[in-house]
Amino acid sequence: MKNQTFVLSKFSTLEKLLKKNEPMEFEGVEYQDTILHFSNTSLLKVIEEFSTPLYVYSEGVLASRIQSYLDGARNHPVILCYSVKANSNLSLLKIIKDYGLGADIVSGGELYKCKIANVPSNKIVFSGVGKSKEEISFALKENILLFSVESPSELIVINEIAKELQTTAPINIRVNPDIDPQTHPYISTGLKENKFGISHVEFEHVLKQALALKHIEVMGLGYHIGSQIVNLNAKIEALQRSKELIKIFNKYKKLMYFDIGGGLGIRYKDENPPTPKEYLETLLTQLPWKEIPHATILVEPGRSIVGPAGMFLTKIQYIKKNYDKIFYIVDGAMNDLIRPTLYSAYHTILPVRQNKTSLMNVDVVGPICETGDFFARDRILPQLKEGEYLAILTTGAYGFSMASQYNSRPRPAEVLIRKDGTIKLIREKETYEDLIAKEIHLM
Ligand code: LLP
Repeated sequence: MKNQTFVLSKFSTLEKLLKKNEPMEFEGVEYQDTILHFSNTSLLKVIEEFSTPLYVYSEGVLASRIQSYLDGARNHPVILCYSVKANSNLSLLKIIKDYGLGADIVSGGELYKCKIANVPSNKIVFSGVGKSKEEISFALKENILLFSVESPSELIVINEIAKELQTTAPINIRVNPDIDPQTHPYISTGLKENKFGISHVEFEHVLKQALALKHIEVMGLGYHIGSQIVNLNAKIEALQRSKELIKIFNKYKKLMYFDIGGGLGIRYKDENPPTPKEYLETLLTQLPWKEIPHATILVEPGRSIVGPAGMFLTKIQYIKKNYDKIFYIVDGAMNDLIRPTLYSAYHTILPVRQNKTSLMNVDVVGPICETGDFFARDRILPQLKEGEYLAILTTGAYGFSMASQYNSRPRPAEVLIRKDGTIKLIREKETYEDLIAKEIHLM
């Protein structure tokens, strides 16, 4: 790839690139002797042992994200319910629960995984607009803390199932505050056109309906307005708006749980979101404590806990030029990490071996037969060679958990760098046998 006409003379070294375009302010990520390290572990060493494509997590970074939340919650009645959808790997779940966190779940499968990881059921909240009867029954039998109820029809179903099981279902009413969280439209959840929650105008009516049901115990209310929120204004506005609902609730019952959802954003490129500690401290000071003296505050962070704690490693298999475009064709693909194509999400990409060659404008693409199979388009990266490796940063959340076997590609392995520097395999790479394990051969 020498003498490219696309070489950008503006930037001549990778250092310049890192300074100008992609600040290296990613926790635990740094070059040591020209090799990219995560939590002081050489990623070349990790690749030598486990090959690519590969998800790598850092227990150290995970612990620091959790600690920041714990610091923010200190001296307040708060239950941190980790949003399992962000990453449901059992080893990570176990670490998270060992720090005392509960879980925010959205399916029976997530409840099952929480059970296996020994997450205490009295710290589990169940969200989602479409809980099935089987899932409701499973959660009732497990005595979870709360169902976050999103419609009057769901209330009736939960009441019926609780009656059959001769129990009472604790619920929170999830409201839709109609607030724009200024994030990608697919991950905004608190706008009136979104399917989530109950509108403020109907809140009192639904509350009365719920109070009249014998097998429902109404505990409080909550909302979740969206994800990757880097500016707290919308979160504060949602909180302010909910004060009128707290007043209504107080006419009928003591409010026991107030759920402020998840959604804190993280740095993918150059965003500067508050730390979890700053975020919690800001919101907790805005709460109308006098009006909710009995309340425990529930928080449902997902991305901001696991996102920065993971990265995805992939190998450049081929370098190809088509007309004016240069493609780095890597061994990972959209089935492994779908965020770039699904949400036009930006993930910082760094070469594993620091490289001081000229910079080029390239597309980083996978082997899947779709033009949407890319990790980056028009990205400035150094001139690399076939066989070199790339690290796609900040992929701990909604990376593996959204992976599929599309194109009959076995999903990649996941490894964890422990705090003591040991590297543990926490999920094996899938095999071809895994691809057919559930199929019934009509032969
Ligand atoms: N609670 C509820 C009710 C939620 O719906 C979500 C996320 C969370 C908590 C956690 O939000 P977080 O703290 O992770 O922002 N796949 C998308 C993100 C979808 C988020 C859906 N709900 C992505 O890759 O950006």
